[in-house]
This record gives sequence, structure tokens and C-alpha cells, in this order.
Amino acid sequence: MSFGSKAAERLADKIILITGASSGIGEATAREFASVANGKIRLILTARREERLKKLSDQLKIQFPLIKIHSAPLDVSVKTQIKPFIAGLPSEFADIDVLINNAGKALGRSNVGEISDDDLDGMMQTNVLGLINMTQAVLPIFKKKNSGDIVNLGSIAGKDAYPGGAIYCASKAAVNFFTTSLRKELINTRIRVMEVQPGAVLTEFSLVRFHGDQDASDAVYKGTEPLTAQDIAEIIVFGVSRRQNTVVAETLVFPSHQASASHVYKKPE
Ligand SMILES: NC(=O)c1ccc[n+]([C@@H]2O[C@H](COP(=O)([O-])OP(=O)(O)OC[C@H]3O[C@@H](n4cnc5c(N)ncnc54)[C@H](OP(=O)(O)O)[C@@H]3O)[C@@H](O)[C@H]2O)c1
Repeated sequence: MSFGSKAAERLADKIILITGASSGIGEATAREFASVANGKIRLILTARREERLKKLSDQLKIQFPLIKIHSAPLDVSVKTQIKPFIAGLPSEFADIDVLINNAGKALGRSNVGEISDDDLDGMMQTNVLGLINMTQAVLPIFKKKNSGDIVNLGSIAGKDAYPGGAIYCASKAAVNFFTTSLRKELINTRIRVMEVQPGAVLTEFSLVRFHGDQDASDAVYKGTEPLTAQDIAEIIVFGVSRRQNTVVAETLVFPSHQASASHVYKKPE
């Protein structure tokens, strides 16, 4: 059997919950799961921007008539939303098989002492507490059936700290240690815990980081060829569609001009 048909067979009828599916890596991951499974899959698409989710859901339903999608707003930084969201899923989406903890962000490039409370709280409550609370809410479902996949979006920033990134880097380092602890806790189960750690990916990430300043965002990527959201989506779907006894535990992914958080070749103008 070819690689593609094996992946489709392994993904068939799975229920996949993706946080942050309204943009970038989360959106591309939804599209890639749908495509690799030829639409024979159930997606739970969440983020704060409901309109974007609806548009994505409508497009996927046209492209893949077999697909089943439940899209609904969820702000992972608000703890009180999470458990009711999972408990209130429609019955055909309730038995989740895969959790993609993708929602996350960097906010600002300020040095410590000058970081705004909003930026600090926004990063920690989304990247760390949001990811942990989602995992706590979904894990009992996986434990009950002794199977399920968790894919956490880490970052090179969680391995290689840089000035002006203290909170974002700390948040992604926290993701890395949380993920590693969880994998060890679940050693006697069939639950797989994976982490994908991208380098530079061209999404809305820098636009969000610079609070909507397009010029500042463009400057980050000038002279470079960043990864695309699709590049990361393919790696996430690859991990989830491996044979059950295979865990693609950690994947650090760079574009070819990058070798650390700050070691980046920029073409001269
Ligand atoms: N792009 C990169 O260079 C890069 C590198 C390494 C790691 N990452 C990580 O990859 C993940 C995805 O980022 P991206 O590059 O795809 O950025 P993006 O295009 O800005 O997408 C971020 C997604 O997260 C969602 N989100 C933000 N805050 C949320 C909240 N409180 N509750 C629920 N959803 C929330 C956003 O949706 P709403 O605004 O609609 O809620 C959006 O769908 C993040 O964890 C990021 O840290 C990115």
C-alpha cells in the first residue's frame, strides 16, 4: 500500500479537534487532514474568530462532500470556556481522537521590565494555560479508550531564547516540558504525545506580535524564504497518520536559511 493510502486508512473517521483553526498553521492543518483523509474525517474547528471558521468549514464541505465539521468559537485563554465546550460537543464529535493544541501567539518584543501586562497575560494564558487546560479537558476521553493523539505546537523559541522574547520563549519552553512530562506519564498507554517546533513560518504570527503593524511584520521576513503553514501542516498530519506504535515525539523544523532562533541568512538587498 502506498504512503498516501496508508495515511488515509489510518485517519479514516477520526475526530480531530484543532485550536486556532481560523488562521495560519491551524487552518492549513484542517485543510491537510481533510485532503489526506479524502474528506473521510470529522473536524472540530475552534478559535475566537467565528466568521473565519465558518468560511473554512463551508469551503471544506464543498471540496470534500463526505466531511463532517463542527466549528464553534472557543477562547482557550478563558479557562471557564474549556470544560463546558468539550462536555457540550454534539454526540458525533464527542469521542475525540486527536487534539491539536495549536492556538498561540507572541505579543511584542519588549525587554523584561517593559512588557505590558496585556502582552504577558495574553501569551501565558493562551500558550501555556490554554494548552494545559485543553489537554486536561480532553485527556480523560483518551484515557477511557486507551488511545488518542496530542500534538502541541512548540517553537524553536522554546529551545533557543532570544532578547525581546522572554515571555514567548518561556511559554514555549513550558510547552516543551509539559509535553515531555505528559509523554512520560502516559508511557503505559497507547496515547501518543507529540510536539512540533517550527522556526520561521509566514502566517499572521508577526502581524499579531506587532499588534497589526504590517511594516514591522514584513521586516521580519525580508530577504528570507520562511516556511509556509502548509509545510507545518504536512508534518503534523504525517505524525498523526503513523502506525500506532510510532511516536514522532519532537520535530524541529526550519526553513533552509535558518539554523537557530536568531541564526538566519538574509539575502542582501
Ligand atoms: N509562525 C511562526 O513563525 C511560528 C513559529 C513557531 C511556532 N509557532 C506557533 O504555531 C502556532 C500557530 O501560529 P501561527 O503561526 O499559525 O499564527 P496565526 O496565523 O496568528 O494563528 C494563530 C491562531 O491562534 C488562534 N488564537 C490566538 N489566541 C487564541 C485564543 N486565546 N483562543 C483560541 N485561539 C486563539 C488565532 O485565532 P483567533 O484570533 O481567531 O482566536 C489563530 O487561529 C502558535 O502556537 C505559534 O506560537 C508559530
